[in-house]
Amino acid sequence: VGDLSAADLKGKKVFVRADLNVPLDDNQNITDDTRIRAAIPTIKHLMQNGAKVILSSHLGRPKGVTPKFSLAPLVPRLSELLGIEVVKAEDCIGPEVEKAVAALPEGGVLLLENVRFYKEEEKNEPEFNVRFYKEEEKNDPEFAKKLASLADVYVNDAFGTAHRAHASTEGVAKFVKPAVAGFLMQKELDYLDGAVSNPKKPFAAIVGGSKVSSKIGVIESLLEKVDVLLLGGGMIFTFYKAQGKAVGSSLVEVDKLELATTLFEKAKSKGVSLLLPTDVVIADKFAADANSKVVPASEIPDGWMGLDIGPDSIKTFSEALDTTKTVIWNGPMGVFEMDKFAVGTEAIAKKLAELSGKGVTTIIGGGDSVAAVEKVGLADKMSHISTGGGASLELLEGKPLPGVLALDEA
Ligand code: 3PG
Repeated sequence: VGDLSAADLKGKKVFVRADLNVPLDDNQNITDDTRIRAAIPTIKHLMQNGAKVILSSHLGRPKGVTPKFSLAPLVPRLSELLGIEVVKAEDCIGPEVEKAVAALPEGGVLLLENVRFYKEEEKNEPEFNVRFYKEEEKNDPEFAKKLASLADVYVNDAFGTAHRAHASTEGVAKFVKPAVAGFLMQKELDYLDGAVSNPKKPFAAIVGGSKVSSKIGVIESLLEKVDVLLLGGGMIFTFYKAQGKAVGSSLVEVDKLELATTLFEKAKSKGVSLLLPTDVVIADKFAADANSKVVPASEIPDGWMGLDIGPDSIKTFSEALDTTKTVIWNGPMGVFEMDKFAVGTEAIAKKLAELSGKGVTTIIGGGDSVAAVEKVGLADKMSHISTGGGASLELLEGKPLPGVLALDEA
């Protein structure tokens, strides 16, 4: 992808697609501003180099114009972080927007309204479009053209939305030249693609989460690259079951038992050391106030369910990580939303922070594991924390991201 730092920006109108899809509470307060903060370096670079910044994002999944999905609540925080008054447009295309763009001074920032208020934004990617679409499935590019007509330069910094082939993430790149990646996009690709494809070895991956089915792609892809694979979270019970162990009433995906066996075999044939927890924290119900105890992984009694990895597993996992040079983590080790079952996840977060301090590259690959690292206040200790959920997962699965492909092609 093209390099933003090499782009000529002075006096240029720059359309920046960021992922400012932040969570808001019922009173429209931002409850986590990570994605806004992550977008700041690119916007500041543009401002400092005399660009007129046209900032665009989606928020939520609105069906048409929906006030509660307006980007207006983001303006104060953006203004504060950028140190200027960000101007908010009421729309994202049309004559009013064109006027506001024309009035932008060099170094000014205009925030467009939620780009998903137009169904044409997503029409760029129909449901049945599975990333590589056939010519006849391509959509009407008119909306992308309208967005593109606002600008001289396109910067895509929306890594979190790079797995969507939408008008503002994919379409615009065809109509504005140059079209380059922003600093956040570049950093995400450097870590989640670069460091993972070409890691300093030994390379370990920790994969957790409740379901094997949602992580199959990631596990299969990582098995090609890692030396050590540690599995935790609810998915382990499907693996135990496949090994014939007693899992009590733990979560098991019966239709994935065969697959679990195949993954064991694949790990073996690749020489990957695949470790499952040796002990688990079990509970008598799925609740924060459940009775709980630690048992060996093969001895889960009937009526009990595993909700976290146990202390022996934490020790084994930590030792396995001690000799690594690169670690990627995706998915919690247990039900970390409940304090009683957060110990395993928090221990892994602490271990990774410790390894970071020793020069190990530590990558937190999106979603719940990011929330877990943030919950224990260790986010700034990691080499990289991804701002993507679905996008990180797809990249780790080895799928090309349409938003990145469009930049490559540009
Ligand atoms: C996300 O939160 O994962 C991104 O902003 C993409 O949002 P979407 O899943 O609604 O496309």
